[in-house]
Amino acid sequence: MSTRYQSLIANPVGQILVKNLGLPNPVPLERHEPGAPLVSGTVAVGGEGRLARTVVTMLDDLGVASVTGTGGAERYKGLVFDATGLTSSADLVALHHFFTPLLRSRLETNPRVVVLGTPPEMTNSTEERVAQRALEGFTRSLGKEIGAGGTVQLVYVAPAADAAIESTLAFYLSPKSAYVSGQVVRVGATGATAAEPVTDWERPLDGKVALVTGASRGIGEEIARVLHRDGATVVGVDVPQAANELQAVMKDIGGDHLMLDITAKDAPQRIAKHLVDKHGGVDVIVHNAGITRDKMLRNMKEDGWSSTVAVNLTAPERITRELLDRGLVRPNGRIVGVSSIAGIAGNRGQTNYATSKAGVVGLVQSLAEQLDDNITINAVAPGFIQTKMTDAMPLLPREVGAMLNSLSQPGLPVDVAETVAWYANPASTAVNGNVVRVCGQMAMGA
Ligand SMILES: NC(=O)c1ccc[n+]([C@@H]2O[C@H](COP(=O)([O-])OP(=O)(O)OC[C@H]3O[C@@H](n4cnc5c(N)ncnc54)[C@H](O)[C@@H]3O)[C@@H](O)[C@H]2O)c1
Repeated sequence: MSTRYQSLIANPVGQILVKNLGLPNPVPLERHEPGAPLVSGTVAVGGEGRLARTVVTMLDDLGVASVTGTGGAERYKGLVFDATGLTSSADLVALHHFFTPLLRSRLETNPRVVVLGTPPEMTNSTEERVAQRALEGFTRSLGKEIGAGGTVQLVYVAPAADAAIESTLAFYLSPKSAYVSGQVVRVGATGATAAEPVTDWERPLDGKVALVTGASRGIGEEIARVLHRDGATVVGVDVPQAANELQAVMKDIGGDHLMLDITAKDAPQRIAKHLVDKHGGVDVIVHNAGITRDKMLRNMKEDGWSSTVAVNLTAPERITRELLDRGLVRPNGRIVGVSSIAGIAGNRGQTNYATSKAGVVGLVQSLAEQLDDNITINAVAPGFIQTKMTDAMPLLPREVGAMLNSLSQPGLPVDVAETVAWYANPASTAVNGNVVRVCGQMAMGA
């Protein structure tokens, strides 16, 4: 799928216009293909902190080639810089020393950059805290500069979670994170520092049961397909009106289905009963179902407000509470909320929607502190993701909206699904309490 603009410039004449007029030139993004190597090239590892050696060992374990010296002429698909050793602002020049010589001609297309730091609040001195906080500005700016379909992330790793970053490296260095850039995540910052070993990285969810709401189409369908690809048995939920589509998707992936409106009074109990009767419990819950009822607040009817909040926020709250209270979420379980850029940046005509999606962030932040048994909760915040919903937008806002990001193109449902799959990975136990934007580093609310 591509936008009208992408189709127009995808020929020699279009490329001449792009060059001469200085227009955005979106680079096609590589996506992960089942069976393909995680990284199709070499990763250079730099920096002298507490993590560099661990990273090299983990990359080896993941079957990814890496080097620690960058003196030759080799080109790299990925760069990992261990910035945990930077303890003062003067030390930050190490970023310049490592990156500057590599950025001109030493990177392949769609390069992946990961900077590793220590959560500023977990540092040992004021100077170190300042230096670690400064990494955010560096990574967010490099994300806007890197070009060639590249992405740049900052991962703050709590000192006790050094051994728990493998699934995060695997995600951020691979094409699975094609549309995630300029993000800051924390690993191990909420206390959980373990990581369940993964024996088969192609099917990390083997034997797990995943509940996905709104699974009949769009992003939810893709989440169901990717979790199934990773080995999970998916229980898809959607409204009775979407029964045919839901059944078709679930049949295709050997999943199970449950038709109900998640805002129904007894929906949490019915979901719980279904999971007990058919699956004995659940390992992954993805609250994807969502609606928009856009209107300026001054023109909004109460029903437009209430229905949006009921589907997007109250239903995920109630379902989560019921499944947790009944002990149905198995140890090392995963809860994933679907927020939105609108919930972070706000959006004209979406006070109801943005309220509900910011509330999803609140749910993540409050529960991340309370969950035990290595259960985690995180959220994805999609930006402009090309679906039937966005295809129905008028041409101009659609084309412009799709390009207002560092990658100058819209994302695909699979980009959101891959991010959910990273959270769902059994090795992601220390990834808790995060909200990651899947937005190509959208200019809005950055
Ligand atoms: N598409 C985007 O660009 C975008 C951007 C940001 C956030 N999101 C969020 O991603 C999620 C999926 O979006 P999408 O674009 O795939 O939307 P979509 O409208 O294509 O799919 C939503 C699904 O949820 C189901 N659903 C709605 N209300 C329900 C209810 N009460 N009970 C059960 N199921 C219900 C619908 O039937 C549908 O299958 C939503 O939460 C949305 O807010 C999407």
